[in-house]
Parts: sequence; structure tokens; C-alpha cells
Amino acid sequence: MVKRNPHFLNLSESYLFPEVMRRVRHYQQNHPEVELLSLSIGDTSEPLTRSATLGLLNQAEKLGTREGYKGYGLEQGEFLLREKITEVFYPNLIDPDEIFVSDGAKCDIGRLQLLFGQTAALAVQNPTYPVYVDTSTVVGNRSISYLPCTPENGFFPDLSKLADVDLLYLCSPNNPTGSVITKPQLQDLVSWAQSKKAFIIFDAAYSGFIQDPTLPRTIYEIPGADEVAIEVSSFSKLIGFTGVRLGWTIIPKKLRFENGHPVHKDYTRFVTTFFNGASVIAQAGGLAALSLEGLEEMRQMLAFYLENASLIRQELQRQNLTVYGGDNAPYLWVKCASKPSWDLFQTLLEKTGIIATPGIGFGSQGEGYLRFSSFGSRPHILKALERIRTAWPQDW
Ligand code: MLT
Repeated sequence: MVKRNPHFLNLSESYLFPEVMRRVRHYQQNHPEVELLSLSIGDTSEPLTRSATLGLLNQAEKLGTREGYKGYGLEQGEFLLREKITEVFYPNLIDPDEIFVSDGAKCDIGRLQLLFGQTAALAVQNPTYPVYVDTSTVVGNRSISYLPCTPENGFFPDLSKLADVDLLYLCSPNNPTGSVITKPQLQDLVSWAQSKKAFIIFDAAYSGFIQDPTLPRTIYEIPGADEVAIEVSSFSKLIGFTGVRLGWTIIPKKLRFENGHPVHKDYTRFVTTFFNGASVIAQAGGLAALSLEGLEEMRQMLAFYLENASLIRQELQRQNLTVYGGDNAPYLWVKCASKPSWDLFQTLLEKTGIIATPGIGFGSQGEGYLRFSSFGSRPHILKALERIRTAWPQDW
């Protein structure tokens, strides 16, 4: 008989969002008449930008011709796309050879766990994007420190509490709190990593939402970060590629293991073994989306979601709730009554038909919070606002 991978015993039965949907389905079975409105998973709602659509179409057409057909691409990604990503997001900060194009940030996070293996000591923010914890658990890693990130510390971890950590996962703009790490804070983090000889895994999947020009959009804005940091990012929220799938990870060539071996070399070995490269169609769509016209379309799409966030925040504040995030991020982190957040989730569902994400799903410091996502068409968001206005639970 085949033995079950024992590490699965250390995982909760289902990932956060399937668990949300399981409870929603159960509710809907008993209340089929209720029109549910999801402000839960951060899934984009707006159609692809014109530039991205044309890029995808053209590449698909090319593949249907003898001259334009190609099979496997480079495992690391098409050079033109890596060059363009560098030019748009990291001018003079990194080299195209340091970019590994992929099928998305979430998959890359899983790949990084395999790269570093089960002995690396990890630290994550609490609350945190659950993928960092779940993927490390699957590879058998039991050494995870949870760093409280709460309103009291400005959602920034206390670095003095960080002992014996190899990999520190940071997400900025943060999922779920919507907070953004400032430049001085990021400088402190890089100095900390240099002094401890640790690596930072910096998840910048939401950096496109940053409006405040003083806030860093990439960790490589900090000198020396290329010796201590890996950055993961994604086209998902930038241009609505959650279904198309395209992302990237940066492994600087200066990043070295303790024995001096370049991490870039191992990651190249890893990617060429485990992955055959992102879809060439998706890559062509991503490249087209980074044209001048495409960037303007992207800017408008991000502004649209931020306007949603602002509308949701105003309505929640009218209910006298304390709301964090949403100005440089698509997520709003909302302090509700001091009740277990799965109860908050259920009450909100029953009273308003709105699906939010329970804060506890992101870690113990999320208890008493709900996360609201601002992804949604305008009519969808306006309907949700109306429900918040008229049916918000009175005792919160
Ligand atoms: C979220 O809602 O936290 C994200 O959209 C989920 C994801 O990107 O995997």
C-alpha cells in the first residue's frame, strides 16, 4: 500500500478559499433565493486590457502557422519579456537574466519551498498569505515563526524578535492587511537580513496598486537588497491574468548560499527540471500589456479597483468600523466585533449575502477581522455597498 505523505497531517483539511466556498455552498443550499455578493477571494473581474488581448490573439494565430509555430520556449521565459519587465519595473536595478518568468506567484512560492527544502527556518508575518505556510508545511518544514503585524506596530514585524531565521516572507502591499512597508522599514529589513545572513522572500504581487510615490514598489530599490532578497511578482492583478497565468521571480546573481554557491544556479537547475516555461501565448499577452498603450490601460484598471476600495472603505467607516488598507492595495482589513472571525463571516453572509474572508484564515492575529477585496464590477460593488448600508449587523 502507498503511504500518505505524513506532512499532509499538518495541513488543515482545505485551503482557505475552498473552505470559504464550502460554507457558502452550504448556506446557499438552504437559501437559494439569496443573491450572494463575493468580496472574498481577490479575483479580478474586469475584462483583459485591449493590448493584452491582442498580444494573446496574435501569438495564438502565429502558432497556427508553419512559420510562426514554436514548441517549448525557454524555461526561464522569453528574453523580450524579461527585458521588458526589467525596463518597466526594475530600471537599472536588476538584469533580465535574473528574472524567471512563470505561471504565477503562487506556484513560484511553492517552487521556492522546494528549492530551500525542509530544513530552512522560516518566519512569516501574522496575519499572512496562507500559501507561504501551507507550501512549506507540505515540504515537511516545521520551523515557522509567526511575527505579529497588528495596528499597534503599524503592521510591521518587530525585527528584534527575529532569531535564527533563514527565510523571512514579506508581502507588500500586504495581503491581507493592505498595509505597505515604507522605504526606511525596508532598509531596516535589508540591514537585518545582511547582519543575520538570512534571505527575504519579498512578495510584490500587489505593487501595481501603490499610489504614494514615496513607498517602495520593489525591494531592489534598497541598495544591497540584491545580496539578500528574492522577489516574487505577478501579472494576475496588474492586467487581470488570474486565469491566463503569468508571473515572475527574481533571483539576483549576487545571492549566495552560506558556502558561496549562487542561488541563481540552483534555481536554474530547478526550473529547467520542474518546469517547461510559461505558456508562450500568456507571455506574448504580458509583453503586449507592457507597451506604452498597455501600461496606460493597466494604470486605468488598477485605478478602477482602487476606486472600488475607496467606496467600500467609506461605507464601512459609515458603520463606525475601523478600516485599514485599501489606499495602496486592493484589500481592506476591517476590525469587527470581538467575535471569532468565522462567526463574523457567517453572520455577515446571513444578514447581507456578502461573502468576506475571515481574518483567522490568515493567522491568529486575524481573529476579529474580516478582509474585503475590492475586485468586482462597479454594479457588483454598488450592490454590496447598498447591503452594507441597509443590513450591516447592528451589534458590531
Ligand atoms: C487572495 O484572495 O488572497 C488571492 O487572490 C489568492 C491568490 O492570489 O492566491
